[in-house]
Amino acid sequence: MIKLTPRLKTIASLVPEGSRAADIGADHGYLSVFLVEQGICPKVIAGEKNEKPLRKAEELVKSMGLEDRVLIRQGDGLEVIKNWDKVNTVIIAGMGGQTLINILRKDYNKLKDIETLILQPMTDIPLVRKWLIENNYKIAREELAREGKQFYEIIVAEPGEEELPDDIILELGPRLLEGKDPLFKAYLLKKLVLAKKVIENLKKSKQEISPQKYNYWINLAHKIEEELKCR
Ligand SMILES: C[S@@+](CC[C@H](N)C(=O)[O-])C[C@H]1O[C@@H](n2cnc3c(N)ncnc32)[C@H](O)[C@@H]1O
Repeated sequence: MIKLTPRLKTIASLVPEGSRAADIGADHGYLSVFLVEQGICPKVIAGEKNEKPLRKAEELVKSMGLEDRVLIRQGDGLEVIKNWDKVNTVIIAGMGGQTLINILRKDYNKLKDIETLILQPMTDIPLVRKWLIENNYKIAREELAREGKQFYEIIVAEPGEEELPDDIILELGPRLLEGKDPLFKAYLLKKLVLAKKVIENLKKSKQEISPQKYNYWINLAHKIEEELKCR
């Protein structure tokens, strides 16, 4: 049985039962195999651009005898998804936010049949939230995962409309702010330390600082302090 890290386990827990998923950038294939092994998905398309991880995933799937249920395909982003796969859930995890947005943007027409996007960007998370909302998605759910000191934000998006929130809410996560994720307080505390450090560095900087940038970090620190009062 595949044992997943807390990050991948949280992602798997957000995949709708019975959905036909595509795991884009599947790397080693652990998540794809887990979803099938656990009966969460009848079939998974595991897409991977690069040769080396692709071979690793193939080896794993073969060793588990799951070749007819975890379909490994080499390709760039969503191009591995074919009409006949009837994929309704797309997972893109462990990549930079900009790469993730480029994948979604490049094959936007392929998203028309997708009911659920499960995204775990490593960077530029506010940009991903903004792109989704500006491109006819609503953020249905957000969850955190923690591995040691590192937090991971997982976004579940569905077709729909949502008003674009301000930059601070895009930074902290609109659904995380509404919800009761047990990790959110620790996540906020970590972000507050970072915000205070950035503010200190900006104050000490000998170069001219952008007032917009300075105000962003001040407003972020203020919002986090307010949030922490009621948690
Ligand atoms: C850091 S790994 C993350 C693997 C796995 N999704 C996870 O969350 O643990 C990113 C993987 O995405 C693949 N990748 C990067 N860009 C891609 C693209 N445009 N299409 C498909 N795969 C891509 C890389 O080769 C790499 O194996």
